[in-house]
Amino acid sequence: MIDDFHPTLSAVTSSVEKTDAEALVLGVAQGPQGPILLPNPLADAAAQSVADSLSALGATGAADQLLRLPGVDGFRSETLVLVGVGRLTGEPTGGVSLEALRRAAGAAVRQLSSLDSVALALPAATVEEVGAVAEGAALGAYTFSHFRGDEEARSKAPVSDVRILTNLKERHIAGVLDRAAVVGAAVRATRDLVNTPPNHLYPESFAEIAGDLSARTKAPAAEGTRKSSKLKLTVWDEDGLAEEGFGGLLGVGGGSTRAPRMVRMEHAPSKPVAHVALVGKGITFDSGGLSLKPGNAMTTMKLDMGGAATVAAVVRAAADLDLPVTVTGWLCLAENMPSGSAQRPEDVITIHGGKTVEVLNTDAEGRLVMADGLDAASAEQPDALIDIATLTGAQMIALGVRTSGVMGEEGLRGQLVSSAEASGEQLWPMPIPEEVRSGFDSEIADLTNLGDRNGGMLGAAAFLREFVGDRADADADALDPEAKRIPWAHIDIAGPAFNEKSAYGYTPAGGTGVMARTLINYLENLGR
Ligand code: BES
Ligand code: MN
Ligand code: ZN
Repeated sequence: MIDDFHPTLSAVTSSVEKTDAEALVLGVAQGPQGPILLPNPLADAAAQSVADSLSALGATGAADQLLRLPGVDGFRSETLVLVGVGRLTGEPTGGVSLEALRRAAGAAVRQLSSLDSVALALPAATVEEVGAVAEGAALGAYTFSHFRGDEEARSKAPVSDVRILTNLKERHIAGVLDRAAVVGAAVRATRDLVNTPPNHLYPESFAEIAGDLSARTKAPAAEGTRKSSKLKLTVWDEDGLAEEGFGGLLGVGGGSTRAPRMVRMEHAPSKPVAHVALVGKGITFDSGGLSLKPGNAMTTMKLDMGGAATVAAVVRAAADLDLPVTVTGWLCLAENMPSGSAQRPEDVITIHGGKTVEVLNTDAEGRLVMADGLDAASAEQPDALIDIATLTGAQMIALGVRTSGVMGEEGLRGQLVSSAEASGEQLWPMPIPEEVRSGFDSEIADLTNLGDRNGGMLGAAAFLREFVGDRADADADALDPEAKRIPWAHIDIAGPAFNEKSAYGYTPAGGTGVMARTLINYLENLGR
């Protein structure tokens, strides 16, 4: 269920008196000697009235702190709101990082969700700052109430009217506002898909939603009606999967009454500068299969399609932003359930392309469906191949629940880390050491699906790498297999895809939409 809610993002470029939004938000930072009110040229009047009394009001500047001051003289909004932006860091200007601005705007809009209109008077002296405030607001304007029984909760939209106070000219900031609207929509769509319960989201219904996304022709725009192009959609149902040998999906999905699907979405601009393939893990529920998970490990396993959700949303965003890059998205959709028709530990299955895998643990299912996706995507010879998956519990052991891991070809891995940094997302490069591959040696098949427990995230990457194809134009005599392979990177988002704790910044509880922004930034950089 993807909500078609989009907040309006507009700029107030005249004066603070003009804005009659229900709340006017000012930023407070933690300075070396206490709280500091952050400047906004259009909110001087409001600022003067509170700047000297921050400490008395209890404003510390700590990130996520929100104080509401009703009825302050000098401006039209009913409520003046102070939001904390955290410590000053010294970059890029005025000591507030772009990510701190995103988080502050998001924290304010998120916590003011009972209101309809909010004006943000945060630092907005540069186009980048306005973009960051708009993006943070678009990310913070999110609730997931589709399944609430009471009509009131179900129908209440988050803040729908966001106004950004800036003295920059409208024509200079229209681009970043539009981009923020598209990026916000992509992240919210990813979260909606992740949050949708597994009895409602299963391979067939996911494929239908991918179809709806593909058919859309109107981009979520800051204001007005920006056009977008349709995506080309291909869906393989169970017969199609059998015909083309998608043995990973059929094996993993075999235990469920909800049959698996492979979905291919394509954004094809007229003069592409490159072709990027994205492959996403789409296990709509991971019970573990016959290698059943214990009950407490099973809750949250609706999140296990987070990679596929990200891929669907990012291909859509590439079209909405009209990027000059061909982007193909592969959604590997299956439900992993135990039953009489489920695959067994010790089954040998044949992955798309012909490699065989001895399934030793049916809970290591993600790599099996991803193997199908990587092989099929490789056959089209993309310039870069990126996969994203909630693949291993080991990711959380290694990096915690907010930092995703990226493995694979060094150049591509580095580009993704840079894109994450520019987007304010936490992504860390991890190796695929030689020794982790041997754990997958099988006596009777090409590979097993179960490597060493230690370094589980790295081993899973080594397994996936076996299914990345070589470049058709590669030098057959090259000794280094890496030189022949299609440049590939693997992103493990097992922990970061889902926030099991409270909301913070622009991140809600539940599905986070993590890495959508990093991937969009990466695609944008190729087009520049
Ligand atoms: N979907 C899980 C990984 C996961 C765990 C994601 C927790 C998010 C939170 C994956 O399919 C899985 O079960 N992995 C196993 C692999 C093991 C059997 C080799 C794991 O990590 O325990
Ligand atoms: Mn599993
Ligand atoms: Zn899984």
